[in-house]
Amino acid sequence: MDTRTLGTTGPTVSALGLGLMGMSDLYTGADETESIATIHAALDAGVTLLDTGDFYGQGHNEMLLREALRGRNRENAVISVKFGSMRDPQGGWIGNDIRPNAIKNFLGYTLRRLGTDYVDVYRPSRISPDVPVEDVVGTLSELVAAGHIRNIGLSEVNAETLRRAHKVHPITDLQIEYSLISRGIEQDILPTARELGVGVTAYGVLSRGLISGHWSAQRTPAPDDYRAHLPRFSGENLDRNLALVEQLRTIAEARGVTVAQVAIAWVLGRGDDIVPLVGARRRDRLAEALGATTVTLTDADLAAIEAVIPAGAAAGTRYDAGHMAFLDSERP
Ligand SMILES: NC(=O)c1ccc[n+]([C@@H]2O[C@H](COP(=O)([O-])OP(=O)(O)OC[C@H]3O[C@@H](n4cnc5c(N)ncnc54)[C@H](OP(=O)(O)O)[C@@H]3O)[C@@H](O)[C@H]2O)c1
Repeated sequence: MDTRTLGTTGPTVSALGLGLMGMSDLYTGADETESIATIHAALDAGVTLLDTGDFYGQGHNEMLLREALRGRNRENAVISVKFGSMRDPQGGWIGNDIRPNAIKNFLGYTLRRLGTDYVDVYRPSRISPDVPVEDVVGTLSELVAAGHIRNIGLSEVNAETLRRAHKVHPITDLQIEYSLISRGIEQDILPTARELGVGVTAYGVLSRGLISGHWSAQRTPAPDDYRAHLPRFSGENLDRNLALVEQLRTIAEARGVTVAQVAIAWVLGRGDDIVPLVGARRRDRLAEALGATTVTLTDADLAAIEAVIPAGAAAGTRYDAGHMAFLDSERP
């Protein structure tokens, strides 16, 4: 497995990271035994970057990771944890708390659940307008000094917020959606991250499965599957987006690879400062994703892809209107 370094100050990690979210939450149908086997298979294949959040399954995801790392050398894993999003007992989303004492409280619980005394990269999942990012990063830098976290990351912030945060303490990486059909970061956010020496961990590289080649109009997500509520997965938008995928399939087949592998290889090829996180929850999906690390798209492939999926080709926004309005990264 090739490696990449997260920004100019961060750890060296596998070129592909594993995102654990769907093993506990948001996408229905996860199986705990298979999830752990998938994490083990990833570690055995050289994947070192493991991304979780304290709110994924309300602590379940962190405890799953603890279980998967039992008997393994914790030092070989780079654990990235998001905090701040709050859930009610039914799992409903009830806002964001990133006040200094809340951060310290969240981290204490996370360390206990993970069974470790440090987190490699710790980040707020979202920035709230009521707490200045300087205060958030200031608190996180105290936690770095105390040895509880090793690096500070951010998630879904815009270029200006990234600059303000980076002045307080070096930001290791920005976690943000980036894929063939979500290219919003290319204009301002990615150039700013590059200027500052901040890495990018790209999530949703398969657009939550939509551009994996395994989604179809017949696959109706269960009502409690988050994808049932995303604009790109419904009605006419879905048909239009799946038509894009079929064009990608033709390109993939000509290369003798799969649609998912082309989509992941495309993100991998956008720069060595970008580490795609894939959300595989099963070993077969993981094996397919890992196969992308040996796919190099030629200039001709890239031109063919750009011709069928230019920037902005997706139908529908990446989140619903309420969430889009809350995203710092979507503010100019
Ligand atoms: N910072 C943020 O705001 C944020 C937001 C979302 C996610 N994340 C992080 O990013 C990670 C990845 O996000 P994601 O799961 O939405 O992204 P993704 O990799 O775009 O989508 C993963 C889904 O695609 C489907 N899939 C089909 N073929 C696959 C293959 N070969 N490999 C992997 N998945 C395949 C699977 O769905 P089925 O199993 O249902 O087929 C899987 O659950 C998350 O686990 C989380 O750690 C961060």
